Amino acid sequence: MATAAHDFSGLTLLHNVEGTLNFIDRSGPKPVNYMYAAPEGIPQRSGNYDKHAVTIYDMRPLLGEVSLDREGFAVVRQESAVQNFYDSAEVVARYYPEVERLVREHTGAQKVHVFDHNVRNRSMAGRRESGVFGPIKFAHNDYTLKSGPQRVRDLLPDEAETLLKNRFAVVNLWRPIRGPVEESPLAVCDGRSMRQSDFVEQDLIYRDRKGEVYAVAYSPDHRWFYVGAQRKDEVLLLKCYDSDPHVTRFTAHSAFEDPTSPAGASPRESIEVRTLVFFPPLR
Ligand code: OGA
Ligand code: FE
Repeated sequence: MATAAHDFSGLTLLHNVEGTLNFIDRSGPKPVNYMYAAPEGIPQRSGNYDKHAVTIYDMRPLLGEVSLDREGFAVVRQESAVQNFYDSAEVVARYYPEVERLVREHTGAQKVHVFDHNVRNRSMAGRRESGVFGPIKFAHNDYTLKSGPQRVRDLLPDEAETLLKNRFAVVNLWRPIRGPVEESPLAVCDGRSMRQSDFVEQDLIYRDRKGEVYAVAYSPDHRWFYVGAQRKDEVLLLKCYDSDPHVTRFTAHSAFEDPTSPAGASPRESIEVRTLVFFPPLR
């Protein structure tokens, strides 16, 4: 007898994959990345990277269970009213308020400040002035112990010292613009499987400022996850900084080549928005 009785409501079956991720070789000097054409004689990107094959588990059965403070990531269903995510003005006017509300409700924060976004589509990236980028295939986390609070001081200078007295976090919201994702999905690493020493500081040099991110060193202990065939109403929240040392503070993440992508898969299209999350004072 056929066993087709299950209704997966359009969901795909569990789909764990073997992926290859790029990790920093921690023995080298502090890696430096230029975010514009590097000056004569200086490499655009320094640091040695090694490829490691890892199992990336489909978190679909865990969607309601994973959490920002434990694993470092969570998945929330949200439709967006945005018509065109490639229109930056529309994203700021319509999507930022949706994001602000979602993050405030999800985290119980007192104040959420949405400050940045990137749109990714390999087939449009590199066209001058498109403002569109390709996927990032290096394991990293967007902020460090130092650059997290620095971002608050840069963006909210008048309030920063007051805001920094209480718990604060940086949370990214990542969603497909078109779904389901067929290639280059985003993998995230369970924070409980990482040690602080797996995070290696890396400088980002912009024309007007210096940022710092973490490159990630390989460990066989890491447990990697992704959302199989992620849909556009499935928002992945990831914690990129937390001032609270008792919860997961950073989330290693990386796009990866999915060996099971169909031939002729359409390029992944996604948007990530960065937010500063301020919690109420503890009483
Ligand atoms: C991010 C990020 C990479 C990608 O959202 O912070 O690193 O390929 N994204 O989408
Ligand atoms: Fe990132």
